[in-house]
Amino acid sequence: MQTVQVKLAERSYPIYIGKNIWSLLPQKLQTVLPLTTALLVSDSNVYPLYGEKISAALTAAGWRVTPAVVPAGEGSKTLARAEELYTAAIKAGLDRSGTVVALGGGVVGDLAGFIAATYLRGVPFVQIPTSLLAQVDSSVGGKVAVNHPLGKNLIGAFYQPKLVWIELEVLRTLPRAEFLAGAAEVVKYGVILSESLFSTLERHWQDFLSQEERLLAQVITECCRLKAEIVAADEREAGQRALLNFGHTLGHALEAATHYDYYLHGEAVLVGMMLAVQLALRQQLLAPAAGGRLLELMAKLGMKPAPPALTAAAVLTALQQDKKRAGTKQPFILPVKIGQADIFANIPPMLVSSVLQEYLN
Ligand code: GLY
Repeated sequence: MQTVQVKLAERSYPIYIGKNIWSLLPQKLQTVLPLTTALLVSDSNVYPLYGEKISAALTAAGWRVTPAVVPAGEGSKTLARAEELYTAAIKAGLDRSGTVVALGGGVVGDLAGFIAATYLRGVPFVQIPTSLLAQVDSSVGGKVAVNHPLGKNLIGAFYQPKLVWIELEVLRTLPRAEFLAGAAEVVKYGVILSESLFSTLERHWQDFLSQEERLLAQVITECCRLKAEIVAADEREAGQRALLNFGHTLGHALEAATHYDYYLHGEAVLVGMMLAVQLALRQQLLAPAAGGRLLELMAKLGMKPAPPALTAAAVLTALQQDKKRAGTKQPFILPVKIGQADIFANIPPMLVSSVLQEYLN
């Protein structure tokens, strides 16, 4: 089992990563939390696969576990669903020493983290991410939120978990499209932060896709280590944490313009990353050979074609509503070489429109 530490002074926490490590969970939890009541938040896809097993293991170790299962999908990231979970927590007798455990992908982690941050002004929180995307990105770093009808993740907090438990075995049951969507975030770390991770992925891509055990553990551990470093340096995204939004500017706009029901998050991010490489190439911020390598690896993930009715105008309107927009300028995170990216505030709107149009055509 590998351990990565997120170093945030008194809010520091461990991330444990390994295959078939379930049996160690109760013991590791007890090193960071008192034995009390746990609200086990999961969804209708994941709970039937792993919920009973985790609930039984925690109960055997002395926890009082109350499961709370929400419907699978982005539609559960709402204040209404959060209110149902508060009710479940009250009925379960969860007090300030109680713990919210998130068992699922990004939606469950964000929703459960949001209620943990707000219920009784904050109770301890544990992440057990079951999608590749949640394992390498959303479960680490404390971004928790629900959606508002006018936009995604508009109501939330920075609220760090006490522990993150990454069981690699669960990726075996993950649908292939979900694995590839998570792999886009894995590639992202290589592009923006680590030439060596990027080359490992280039050299061993097939082994990574077939989830070769040692490589998978090595790659996921490296992604968590890179993210932990960024979060430790810039927890609240005042500076370099924004680099993690590489591909997300246009990615979010594509998701919003298609009403969050066409792309998986990672699929939209992949398109956003490929368009960002095009922007960097056209602005001569990135050497053509490096751009070629980036696009070649990204293409292996399978860029999802745009839906036929989607227009550039709709995507650009969604882009203007991006909550990360600084004043009237839309910042873009663009690669400048393999393993390094920067934030650029002056990318000509005509250029953005033109690379977008090429994708839509
Ligand atoms: N998903 C980007 C971040 O956690 O900052």
